[in-house]
Amino acid sequence: MTASKCFIYLQKEIHTVVAATTDGDGLPVTCAIDIMDADEDGLYFLTAKGKGFYDRLKKDGYMALTGMKGEDTMSCVAVSVRGKVCELGEAQLRRLFEKNPYMNEIYSTEKSRRALTVFKLYDGCGEWFDLSKKPIERASFNFGKAEESEEGYFITEHCIGCRTCEPVCPQACIDFTTTPAVIVQTHCLRCGNCKSVCPHNALIRRG
Ligand SMILES: Cc1cc2nc3c(=O)[nH]c(=O)nc-3n(C[C@H](O)[C@H](O)[C@H](O)COP(=O)(O)O)c2cc1C
Repeated sequence: MTASKCFIYLQKEIHTVVAATTDGDGLPVTCAIDIMDADEDGLYFLTAKGKGFYDRLKKDGYMALTGMKGEDTMSCVAVSVRGKVCELGEAQLRRLFEKNPYMNEIYSTEKSRRALTVFKLYDGCGEWFDLSKKPIERASFNFGKAEESEEGYFITEHCIGCRTCEPVCPQACIDFTTTPAVIVQTHCLRCGNCKSVCPHNALIRRG
C-alpha cells in the first residue's frame, strides 16, 4: 500500500477524519476535519483563521490524523497519518471548493470565505490497518522528505527456532521455515507476546 493510494482512500472513501494537535499546555486536542484533496506529496484541508484548531496548527507545525471506514470493528479499515503542516493560504481555496461543492452550503458567499485558509500535511509517515482481512493486514508508508522508518518487532540471529513464540502469536504470523524465524510484518498486530516469551531474548522492537 503506497502513500498515494492511502491518500486517495482518505480523500475519496473516508473524507472526514479525526485530527490531533496539542493545546498551549501541550495536551492533546482532537477535532473532525475533511480531507479536501490529496496528491503524492500530501493531504490538503481547510480551516478558519479564527478557530482554536488554526492556532494549534500554527503552534505545532505538526499534525496527526486517523480516518476509518467500515460498518463495525471487524469490517473496518483505519488509515493514520502524521507529518508537518504548513499554511498555503487562500490561493488554493477555489480549487478545494470546486472539488468539494458541499462547502458552498457551509460558506455560501465569497465574503464568508474570507476566514478560510488551506493547510497541507507533508513530509511524514502513515499506516494502513485493515481489520476486515484474516489475518489482519497492515502497511506502513513514508512520504515527502520524512526519513524511512521501520517499526514493529523483529527476530534477531539469537533465534534458534524453538517455536516458544508460536502459540502466543494471535495472528500466527511467524514464519519458522528459516532460522532465525521471521515475523510477517503485514499481518503482525505488534502485541509484543513473542518478545515477552522468547527464552533467547531474540526479539527487538523498532519504532
Ligand atoms: C463532519 C465534520 C467535518 C468537519 N470538517 C472540518 C474541516 O474540514 N475544517 C474545519 O476547520 N472544521 C471542520 N469541522 C468542524 C471542526 O471539527 C470543529 O470546528 C472543531 O471542533 C473546531 O475546534 P476548535 O473550535 O477547537 O478550533 C468538521 C466537523 C464535522 C462534524
